[in-house]
Amino acid sequence: MKPMIALAACAALLAACTPQKTAAPAAAAKFNTDLSMTEFMDHVIDPAAFAYWHGSGTEITKAGERDLSPTTEAGWVSLENAAAVLIEAGNALQVPGRARAPEADWNRYAQDLSARAAAGKDAAEKKDKQAVFEDGAKIYEVCTACHKQYVIGPMLEDQARTGPPPSRPLPPWPADLQPRSGAAKP
Ligand code: HEC
Repeated sequence: MKPMIALAACAALLAACTPQKTAAPAAAAKFNTDLSMTEFMDHVIDPAAFAYWHGSGTEITKAGERDLSPTTEAGWVSLENAAAVLIEAGNALQVPGRARAPEADWNRYAQDLSARAAAGKDAAEKKDKQAVFEDGAKIYEVCTACHKQYVIGPMLEDQARTGPPPSRPLPPWPADLQPRSGAAKP
């Protein structure tokens, strides 16, 4: 056997004997929905929405009126970032295990959130102050519409069924505030 062929034969043998790395089975999509809806709202949606809303309009203080629109490139980019998070949040809301019944309505709100956030991102990219303000308001409308149907509605229905929550009696006044006998009545 010529050395080159011998080498090739050894290599082939080696390859045959080396245990092949077992290929990982093709992973099916798997969504982690451990964050409760409350946490998802508090840690993902709310901070992004406020980051966007804080980047437009005016603030009136003793010192006068202040335009809240970004004044730096980084400021505009942070508005785009916030809007991008909201676009993706619209997707995450529709992940199986998150969507609530009736799902068609839920998904529509989620898709509206993504669409309005996409318009908002566009406005920030163009540094269009007025459009950022208006798109911010349109995003807010989706938040309140979904909350009306999925949070406030069910709460009111619950109350209609069970009656208003029991009113708790006020705690007694601290001793030093107890009306003393003979004290002037108010
Ligand atoms: C697709 C529906 C939907 C949309 C859109 C939506 N929310 Fe919510 N949100 C909910 C639900 C449902 C709850 C109540 C959480 C629960 O039931 O556990 C909630 C609760 C909240 C809470 C209260 C969390 C707490 O600690 O109790 C905040 C804050 C909030 N949302 C902010 C927002 C903001 C800001 C937007 C818009 C940018 C928004 N949400 C858009 C469905 C939605």
